[in-house]
Amino acid sequence: MPSRESHLDVASGLIAPGDVAGDSGGRRPGAPMPVMRPKLPSTRQLVPYLRAIEERRSYSNSGLLCQKLESELSRHLHCQQDLVITAASATAGITAALLALDLGSNATCLMPSWTFVATPHAAWAAGMEPFFMDVDRRTWALDAAEVRRALAARLCAPRAIVVVSPFGAPLDLTAWQKLQQETGIPIIVDAAAGFDTVRFSSLISVVSLHATKILAAGEGGFVVAPTAEMRDRLKSCSNFGFLGSRVAQRRAVNSKLSEYHAAVALASLEGWPATRLRHLQIASWYRKGLSPIPGVALQPGYGEGWACGTTNVLLEGDSAESIGRYMLREGVETRMWWGAGCHLQPAFAACSRGELPQTEFLAAHTLGLPHFPDMEKADVDLVCRVLGKALRSRASGRRAS
Ligand SMILES: Cc1ncc(COP(=O)(O)O)c(C=O)c1O
Repeated sequence: MPSRESHLDVASGLIAPGDVAGDSGGRRPGAPMPVMRPKLPSTRQLVPYLRAIEERRSYSNSGLLCQKLESELSRHLHCQQDLVITAASATAGITAALLALDLGSNATCLMPSWTFVATPHAAWAAGMEPFFMDVDRRTWALDAAEVRRALAARLCAPRAIVVVSPFGAPLDLTAWQKLQQETGIPIIVDAAAGFDTVRFSSLISVVSLHATKILAAGEGGFVVAPTAEMRDRLKSCSNFGFLGSRVAQRRAVNSKLSEYHAAVALASLEGWPATRLRHLQIASWYRKGLSPIPGVALQPGYGEGWACGTTNVLLEGDSAESIGRYMLREGVETRMWWGAGCHLQPAFAACSRGELPQTEFLAAHTLGLPHFPDMEKADVDLVCRVLGKALRSRASGRRAS
């Protein structure tokens, strides 16, 4: 029987100590500096919301906290009306969005390979087939002009396009809206890490509220619909195909957010201005600390007025994997957040794709450095020192051989 207190669960061995905080959250003495250490609202901040749930005895199915969250997010995004639909995760939100487009089975969904595996998983879950296209080295994202050229050359015939905001970076929404209007191909923005950069537009956008994201609910996400009609389709596709009755009208999933997760998201939203400043502060420390180190480039646009929850660097002449191994030996954890690109993940190896030279370059040379909200300047300085040392050591190794 699981005990009532989580520390008792740890004592009983039902939860391994490392699982309690999750996401590399717990820092044991002597452990390396973690690459990620999420900090969600405190128990004290959550109590009023939890009391509200208890009083109403409403735990899911678009309860009052979900409705409040959807209204507040719509207001935050300057939508003309409530056009935000909460979701159990960004993956579930993208799936529901693709289902809402009603594109039929096995239709092609064009997307970058330089993304997290959630993007192609969502396409599969919606009955579509991913087609991977290369990204632009200058932005790390798909380029609308390149996609237009690929369509003209009949490289593929997508029924939908998912554009991914790389680690929360802003996208050229004007270009993507124009492409959608001209081709009639619906475009979804996977802005999983882009709470600070997502904008209301004629495109469907999806944001993650996972614990590792800058606005966090633990697990969760939301979808921004361009119109009230699409919002209603999305609501139906995220709730068994129901809308206003218990009749399944269309192919759907259950991607609803629980009231408990809405509670955490609402408490996080209260603290958003301070959280945002904190991430911008970390970015400015990194920009300063990394600037004198040769061979390191920060993600394009990083620290230029938008906040993100990860710090990624491009090591032009070095393998991210070997520098990451060196840094771990020196007590600093790193992560190649998007691995080798989706096309090299066993699950997606058989998916169709174009040439992917930029993706392969970014995958080999991009390294995620530690980034967590309670990071201090001394932590950032340490990471910069260790990275500099790792690069110098690799360079002298190369000269010697
Ligand atoms: C680009 C991208 N898309 C989708 C997701 C999935 O988000 P979630 O964990 O909320 O399903 C992530 C998660 O990090 C992501 O980076």
